[in-house]
Amino acid sequence: MYIPEKHVAQNIVSDYGTPVFVTSAEVVRVNAHKLIDAFTLNDTKIFYALKANYDPQLVRIIKESGVYGIDAVAPHEVRLALEMGYTPQQIIFTPSNASDEEMRYVNEQGILQNLGSLSELTRFGKLFPGSKVLLRICPEIGAGETHKVTTGHIESKFGIARNDLEKVYNIAKKYKLLIVGIHSHIGSGFYDPQDFTNSARAVCAVAAEFPDVEFVDLGGGFGVVYRPGENDIDLSTFAQACHSPLEELEKKLGKKIELRIEPGKFLVTNTTVLLTTITTIKSKGDKKFVGVDSGFYHLIRPAMYDAYHHIVNISRPDESQEEVNVVGNVCETCDVFNGNVKLAAPQEGDILAILSAGAYGSSMSSNYNLRTLAPHVLVDGANITLTRRRQTYEQIMENFT
Ligand SMILES: Cc1ncc(COP(=O)(O)O)c(C=O)c1O
Repeated sequence: MYIPEKHVAQNIVSDYGTPVFVTSAEVVRVNAHKLIDAFTLNDTKIFYALKANYDPQLVRIIKESGVYGIDAVAPHEVRLALEMGYTPQQIIFTPSNASDEEMRYVNEQGILQNLGSLSELTRFGKLFPGSKVLLRICPEIGAGETHKVTTGHIESKFGIARNDLEKVYNIAKKYKLLIVGIHSHIGSGFYDPQDFTNSARAVCAVAAEFPDVEFVDLGGGFGVVYRPGENDIDLSTFAQACHSPLEELEKKLGKKIELRIEPGKFLVTNTTVLLTTITTIKSKGDKKFVGVDSGFYHLIRPAMYDAYHHIVNISRPDESQEEVNVVGNVCETCDVFNGNVKLAAPQEGDILAILSAGAYGSSMSSNYNLRTLAPHVLVDGANITLTRRRQTYEQIMENFT
């Protein structure tokens, strides 16, 4: 987990203030190479899930590190990927309940669409008969950091149920659609390679029924470390986990099948901290509250998913530790960054680093309480660059009439 050195953090805070997201370019590169080195199987193509963090400078590093493409879930993500120089072949569009207008825009760009409902498939068929399309299936296997980010189970809103495949056939036949890939994403943040094998088996079993299939896409979700002392997952076991289902599929279809994956979290989580300043310390009942100048509008994962984010006191790292509740400045009881963390002798004015804030932190931010979005700073060796300015009140209000 990246933690900026004290003097680096202090320089950034004196130049740009807090709260501020600080990202290490080097850690992004390390993560990209770990994935590329582990997934050599079946010409694996890696598509970065842009939803995790869409800072263009970060995406540029991911691209330069050799990660093949982008998994985009919304039209503006497609647009950003195109503006960053990805070719249409390097982009997959995986919408959730796409409108006709969205499908039209993406089709005009020549980008393959990954559709997860009979409705979307039918509307796509009517709009673009004879086209290639990718199917998002529900593998009936869910895994993830918490229930709210588990996607592959039958009760979730995602994917086409396996017992609807007959209907898929009929729609594809009627509109002469070529189903060139089968996709599943079982959830975000899983740690057991067996879950990946099960997902690969489910996807490959469906793919075997579609002779036009050229690739299978097993989504993202590779688990990352949020607590100090935990071990990184061994990515090679995850790559190995899909070997035999793919081999069987190739035998059945009698051709080479490419593997695709779409990691978000794994590439960016541990690259970034959210630096924030302690404004208020108070004790109430048997609790000590350490109040900071940020809130769930910058990092919603603890409030929304009960996610754990470790926190360190950058200002005095060596002093003895005490257990505290680090809380934000939003008028909501759930605005707690960490209700049970040991911090070194916190004092008002200290700078805290909330760790592993690179994925689903800034990208899920909001203007709740009219709070402004935080700036981004990129640390690349000795170079420190502001990659996003702090939002202003005027920028929040400019579209109100
Ligand atoms: C379709 C799809 N692919 C990939 C991802 C990336 O997941 P993660 O960031 O956990 O790797 C997501 C995120 O939920 C997703 O919805």
